[in-house]
Amino acid sequence: MPDTPVESTTLLTLQDVEVSFTLKRSSLFAKPSLLRAVDGVTLSVRKGQTMGIVGESGSGKTTLALAVARLLPVTRGQIHMNGVDLLSLRGEALRNERRHMQFIFQDPYSSLNPRLRAEKIVREPLDRLSIASTSRRDDRVRELFDQVGLRRDQQRLFPHQFSGGQRQRIGIARAIASNPSLVICDEPVSALDVGVQAQILNLLRRLQEELGLTYVFISHDLGVIQHMCDTIAVMYMGKILEEADRESLFNTPKHPYTQALLSAVPSADINRRNRERRIMISGDPPNPIHLPPGCRFASRCPQVEDRCRVDTPPLVNIDRHHRVACHLVKAAG
Ligand SMILES: Nc1ncnc2c1ncn2[C@@H]1O[C@H](COP(=O)(O)OP(=O)(O)O)[C@@H](O)[C@H]1O
Ligand code: SF4
Ligand SMILES: [Mg+2]
Repeated sequence: MPDTPVESTTLLTLQDVEVSFTLKRSSLFAKPSLLRAVDGVTLSVRKGQTMGIVGESGSGKTTLALAVARLLPVTRGQIHMNGVDLLSLRGEALRNERRHMQFIFQDPYSSLNPRLRAEKIVREPLDRLSIASTSRRDDRVRELFDQVGLRRDQQRLFPHQFSGGQRQRIGIARAIASNPSLVICDEPVSALDVGVQAQILNLLRRLQEELGLTYVFISHDLGVIQHMCDTIAVMYMGKILEEADRESLFNTPKHPYTQALLSAVPSADINRRNRERRIMISGDPPNPIHLPPGCRFASRCPQVEDRCRVDTPPLVNIDRHHRVACHLVKAAG
């Protein structure tokens, strides 16, 4: 059978996306400073798959996710979903496209309105997007409670009457209510106890299979990323430093930053654990408002060379599904 062209299976593409924040002036005469939280990100996400985005706090993961959902303005670049140019959409057209893309937030405590009953929270996207008739919406809410493992008699309770894990189930029911194609999960289990994390991750995987969902899955936790993601992009100071399928990234990481991150996670395989030594990341990340030229990781890289402080390494393909931005790693061909 011939290879399916990548284009036909791609749901979301980002081309050179930049999101900058203009920060308040420190004094009347100072120039306003610019913080480039996302700096030239190019990515594509395949249908039915999970694209992981991993990186330390402040690397730009949430900003990127909010920009894709059009909840923050993009300052440069292009975003297409199913071939639709998302950044050109306004008004009704944007509203229509929004139903195909939903968000699950990190904190199920603050992302649910405490004054609304659970059924109203789950129903809200159906009302807002005028999906189905009023009576059909009641049926849909019942169905959604079943799907995420909540009992129907819990529909009339308020958020504070649920545990953390149950609250995240409400957040998930709300996210899938409009039958989206894409669900962006921003640290969906980081606020939960470890035992509950596994239940929620398994629920997300089951729903992905049942509903054919595509996920963008953000986490700072490599264990969670390995459990959930098909492809992984490693972000640092607004840039992607490495992107690969799960096997390549975890077995043959190429970027010094990815290697250091992975070396900090104890491997389940004892031989591997004995073989690998922990790479310490020392030094501080650069100030995001005054970024020096060259590689973003240079101030902390154990393999830094002179050229790294001058030239920014481009993100190049070293394999069909493996991209790396480091002067020490050779491009394919
Ligand atoms: N609304 C904002 N205004 C100014 N700076 C922001 C804003 N939101 C995020 N930032 C900055 O952008 C950078 C990336 O933040 P964020 O996307 O939240 O990272 P992450 O989700 O990876 O922790 C950080 O330096 C953060 O301080
Ligand atoms: S380009 Fe240089 S500083 Fe950057 S990761 Fe590679 S070796 Fe380290
Ligand atoms: Mg975040």
